[in-house]
Amino acid sequence: MNHYLTTPIYYASGSPHLGHAYTTLLADCYKRYYQLQGDDVLLASGTDEHGQKIERAARAAGLSPEAFIAPLSQEFQTLWPSRGIEVDRFERTTAPAHKRYATAFWRRLETAGDIYLGRYQGLYCVECEQYFTEGTLCPVHRRPLESFSEPSYFFRLGRFQDALIQHIRDNPQFIVPATRRNEVLSFLEGQTLKDLSVSRTATSWGVPVAGAEGHVQYVWVDALSTYLSALSLDGTARFEDESIQCWWRNATHFIGKDILTFHAVYWPALLLSAGLPLPRQLIVNGWLTVEGLKISKSDPSTIVDPRALAGQAGSDALRWYFLKNVSLGQDLDFSAAHFVQTINSDLANNFGNLISRFVSLAQKRLGGSWRQVADLETRDTILLAQAVSTGDAVATAFAQGDPSEGARQVIRLASDINAYFQQQAPWKIGDEARLATTLWTVHQSVADLTILTSPFLPEISTKARHALGLGQASWRQIGQRDHVVSTFETGPVYLRLEP
Ligand code: MSP
Repeated sequence: MNHYLTTPIYYASGSPHLGHAYTTLLADCYKRYYQLQGDDVLLASGTDEHGQKIERAARAAGLSPEAFIAPLSQEFQTLWPSRGIEVDRFERTTAPAHKRYATAFWRRLETAGDIYLGRYQGLYCVECEQYFTEGTLCPVHRRPLESFSEPSYFFRLGRFQDALIQHIRDNPQFIVPATRRNEVLSFLEGQTLKDLSVSRTATSWGVPVAGAEGHVQYVWVDALSTYLSALSLDGTARFEDESIQCWWRNATHFIGKDILTFHAVYWPALLLSAGLPLPRQLIVNGWLTVEGLKISKSDPSTIVDPRALAGQAGSDALRWYFLKNVSLGQDLDFSAAHFVQTINSDLANNFGNLISRFVSLAQKRLGGSWRQVADLETRDTILLAQAVSTGDAVATAFAQGDPSEGARQVIRLASDINAYFQQQAPWKIGDEARLATTLWTVHQSVADLTILTSPFLPEISTKARHALGLGQASWRQIGQRDHVVSTFETGPVYLRLEP
């Protein structure tokens, strides 16, 4: 099966921060999970480089937009591989191939009769690149809204209102969590949708609207179409080509709650107008905050650099902390003390210690290679069955869009294996056959555990598997028992962090 996963494309107006890293980690965790299942996955990310927000930031820095965005886009592009995230397509909205695609996309809307020329008069937040109909302050950035009046092309959004409501009602999994789905439904059912202003003349920093001098595409229309242009390497593939549709058929967008309307209302409406299928799912995450404030480059006091955090604790620690603690759709207030406490407790004391104690005992008492010789007792089969049922629970958590629940199940299994190890006290067992069977039970349950940890903790899981003489993990191996097993001394799996 093919899975197409996308992160939002991040504004190239500042360096990446933890908020950006979280959505990308979540998408990467899914990528690894599907790959474990043997599926093919394409992960797309990128940078959003047009629009007034970028143009103004460049001007403030005394640079041309091109010179301003190039190093920032590069920062995003290099951050992901340095954190063990393999982005398959990194799309920049200024790339010629993307611009060709965005122009072709616009043409489809025009051909459908959904674009007309009018005049936009109203309020706008340049930070959000979003129109507002009322208020004086942007609810997200708390800055005054700017008033604009300019000629603009409009998209007949209202035409798609009923179809959108129907689609969301018929597909309960289209938007998860359900709270976000309900929010979109009440937005759609509570008003008559106004047509959307989709071109700007106040800036020339964008994709030109073909045949309409002075107009560039509204930056969100340009940005949303990267989800399709990222599937076409040179921007020439037709939308209907199998090379695009084989991924698009099963597309999941990972987004933050602040960009829900763009993805759950505007984007599906644009796709319907263009005659293209809708993505399968939107997984909507909450915000990371610091002392209650959204981590955001517009508030420097909130900035936590993911590179600095991972530099001290390791990429896996960064992944684990956020993937486990951010429950589906909820906000998480970041605290360095809670980070250190979680990592030491889960990775050093629980998972890491289990591997070290088990491997050193198996080396000492059984020479690092042995087979199950005595019959399994109930306590052994209970633990082995628990490893398998944890696999089912983790799969359910992913299917429901909530890997954090999966991470909690996984660490519970590690605690249960630790408890078994402690209760059986194999270092006191004199009977050779029972000792071998006890340590075999630990080996096999840890083998399953390392499969389940691998989407969350890729580096640590690989280390642990090497210590157990195991190669690459695959979901199918869960519950498949090897009769002869080994261990290798490979050093500690995770070292405690100093507070
Ligand atoms: N460029 C648009 C997205 C276009 S997608 C076609 C944009 N960029 S952004 O850089 O402002 O935000 C990108 C993503 O990062 C959004 O999903 C946003 O929710 C997420 N985050 C930014 N700050 C965040 C936190 N503090 N916490 C969690 N995610 C947040 O919007």
